[in-house]
Amino acid sequence: WAENVAKSDGVVTVAGVRVDELAREFGTPLYVLDEEDFRHRARAFRDAFAGADVYYAGKAFLSVAAARWIAEEGLSLDVCTGGELAVALRAEFPPERIGMHGNNKSVAELRRALEVGVGRIIVDSFEEIARLGALATELGVRAPVMVRVTAGVEAHTHEYISTSHEDQKFGFSIAGGDAMEAVRQILADDGIDFLGLHSHIGSQIFVTDGFEVAARRVLRLHAQIAREFSVVAPELDLGGGFGIAYTTQDDPSSPETLARGMREIVEGECAALGVEVPRLSIEPGRAIAGPSTFTLYEIGTTKRVALDGGGARHYVAVDGGMSDNIRPALYSADYSCTLASRESTAEPVLSRVVGKHCESGDIVVKDEYLPADVAPGDLLAVPGTGAYCRSLANNYNHVPRPAVVAVRDGEARLLLRRETEDDLLALDLG
Ligand code: LLP
Repeated sequence: WAENVAKSDGVVTVAGVRVDELAREFGTPLYVLDEEDFRHRARAFRDAFAGADVYYAGKAFLSVAAARWIAEEGLSLDVCTGGELAVALRAEFPPERIGMHGNNKSVAELRRALEVGVGRIIVDSFEEIARLGALATELGVRAPVMVRVTAGVEAHTHEYISTSHEDQKFGFSIAGGDAMEAVRQILADDGIDFLGLHSHIGSQIFVTDGFEVAARRVLRLHAQIAREFSVVAPELDLGGGFGIAYTTQDDPSSPETLARGMREIVEGECAALGVEVPRLSIEPGRAIAGPSTFTLYEIGTTKRVALDGGGARHYVAVDGGMSDNIRPALYSADYSCTLASRESTAEPVLSRVVGKHCESGDIVVKDEYLPADVAPGDLLAVPGTGAYCRSLANNYNHVPRPAVVAVRDGEARLLLRRETEDDLLALDLG
């Protein structure tokens, strides 16, 4: 749960605002974001990593207001498409504090990044290096570049969000020699400035040995570059991926612990290798945005289904589902939930919260004890939906995407309005 969430007479409140009022004013499903919580987590990373740069990974959640908060709190911003860059620019985010990712950036995206003067472009293919060199020459600018490398580690997370084993689409392999070759090509290109190496091993990671092994391998490459090319890269980015608690079983590390661990490894390894310590940067997305938000749903129907081995399962259907949170269907992600609109003394029964989509995999919360008397009209709140829920939201079954409302000091402000049927029909030319 976000920091400013509480319960008063059984009704969930956030920063002093009751969820039943939010539902009345903005409708459901609704993403409810605790602005102070989001800002506080951003500041916590900034302070813990003082002397390093913290790039908030906008793919977790991005809106013009969120980009402004990130700028105001003194962080930098990681974008990975022209669309995310457009949001940052609309928010007047300082371009020199923007890092541009993507394994297949289009020429138009690269051109725009150079034209607006983003601070770093993280390259991910040989074609991209050549394209950037040509574009920089054409535009009469220099392209500031980092090289995304694959350290060859297993990240202990879901396969779809692991990004540093050899057989996947991201990065230049260190082991296979492509990373050295990429740096060689960059150094040979007059239009490109080499800033350093970048490694991101995956997302929702708790076991820190993956980070450690990756950091050591990347630093060895950093030292090899210094030896062979006589170039000491000024920067090193170790990516994001810090896990958050979706259920009580998850045990995340604090930004301070992460910062201490990373500094020790980087400083120790650099001393051993006899190279200068580069300026460090990281890219947390989920750990800043994730806990800030809960999704508010209204219950529409309920069902008791007899189980083969005896007993029954309580199905509670809400007015959203895999269109506003696809993570359970995509990664078997676990969430929890609570009855948010009233007190109940009814006996808790094992329940499954499901959505309204035409798929049996449309599960919101797989197993949760909810009061036996939950009924249509009750509100349910699912915490930890601030990262990769609105940003992965879709229109499956022609369901409009929900609104995002930010609450702070007793006031609610709409950040992203709810889509309407007219929005969806406007795309359909008949
Ligand atoms: N940096 C790079 C280069 C990344 O690719 C990512 C995430 C991040 C930073 C931020 O990672 P975070 O700190 O948020 O874990 N849709 C998936 C997560 C995909 C992550 C993609 N890259 C999910 O819902 O779990």
